[in-house]
Amino acid sequence: MEAFQYRGDQLYCEGVSVAELAEKHGTPLYIYSQAALVGSLKALQDAYAEVDPLICYSVKANSNLGVLKVLGDHGSGFDVVSGGELFRVQKAGGDPGKTVFAGVGKSDPEIAQAIEAGVLMFNVESEAELESIARVASGMNRVAPIALRVNPDVDPKTHRYTATGQKESKFGLDIERALRIAETVKDLPSLTMIGMHMHIGSQITTVEPYAKAVAKGVDLIARLRAMGHPIAWYNMGGGYGIAYRGPEAKPVKEFADAILPGLKATGCRLAIEPGRVIAGNAGILVSRVLYTKQSGDKRFLIQDAAMNDLIRPALYESFHRIWPVTVPPGLPAPPADYEAAIDGTEPWDVVGPICESGDFFAKDRALPPLDKGALLATLSAGAYGMLMASTYNTRPRAAEILVDGDAARVVRRRETLDDLVAQEIGL
Ligand code: LLP
Repeated sequence: MEAFQYRGDQLYCEGVSVAELAEKHGTPLYIYSQAALVGSLKALQDAYAEVDPLICYSVKANSNLGVLKVLGDHGSGFDVVSGGELFRVQKAGGDPGKTVFAGVGKSDPEIAQAIEAGVLMFNVESEAELESIARVASGMNRVAPIALRVNPDVDPKTHRYTATGQKESKFGLDIERALRIAETVKDLPSLTMIGMHMHIGSQITTVEPYAKAVAKGVDLIARLRAMGHPIAWYNMGGGYGIAYRGPEAKPVKEFADAILPGLKATGCRLAIEPGRVIAGNAGILVSRVLYTKQSGDKRFLIQDAAMNDLIRPALYESFHRIWPVTVPPGLPAPPADYEAAIDGTEPWDVVGPICESGDFFAKDRALPPLDKGALLATLSAGAYGMLMASTYNTRPRAAEILVDGDAARVVRRRETLDDLVAQEIGL
């Protein structure tokens, strides 16, 4: 079942009317579908079933406790990049033993917190970090499980801000360096190298980069084992792309087919760190049209959601489908093809109230004429949406709703103005 679909002229999330939720809870409003979250998790579990994968949902994509709880309850592990994300996983009842700790800049207190919690392994990104983990673990009389994050030096063909697996990236270790560092790990009794990690980028829509990366990984694992390291985990990272416009990304099964043969040759257990592919199409952002205006030949739809609520278009010029929650007579549900002309529409810039020209959700987007008060749905907003939100222009952050069938509950209440100044002291 599609989680978000039109019934007649009305957009629904599962069994709940989006317009009614907006009426009740106000806008901007994030709405998530539990069926979509669980459905994508299950699609991954099924695609990799033959190797009994550990899906470590990448918390950075959407860290709402309600979302984490649903995923944890359905067997997901987690990928965290900070003590804060680990705290969230634990708050949501997630299992630290199924959690990997990644990130280029782990502090000593965060390392200690993760050892204490009993994370499955640390993804190590530099020699200096390796030393810190060894020192902290030794001080706690513990042995920390680690995986080196290796840069396979493949081009993931994605936005330059979300490419990570190339040699010149700030992430991970190039293969030669990884091998050199692996030698030193043998002399550090507070570390045990049980895995190898790769993450090549995000919103990757083709399978070739993964196939290339795995080929390099297979070879590297053999060399690490030859040094005596008990490599039992191959962590393939995240990055599996989703459909923002149409069917631009491959189904998860095709990624699995590219990864599995190499993985099986290593005899390792597979971990993956998907974020976007689980949460992205499980969420929408609902906004209300405040004003329409024309400037020269340009038409602007000024809505109450802005770059502080969803920064992706401003930061990456990313595309999100936008369509009215109540479809005006004669128009279809959101068009499958945005490049084609759509009768009854005209080009609009969809912008927010923030004082920056970068505050837009879409430029020259085909939309029907809409009046003040109309509701708009920005689709594919479940990943890297709310948790990249800020309070810029002193705008309280949106509320978040989780829908399960015919039931909807608030999983984060709307911020108040008092919330916004609560930390400011010393007047
Ligand atoms: N593992 C690691 C080590 C990562 O750095 C990331 C994402 C993931 C897993 C999850 O990647 P995913 O499966 O979600 O693609 N804010 C950007 C995306 C940044 C991704 C950062 N790392 C956006 O809105 O497109």
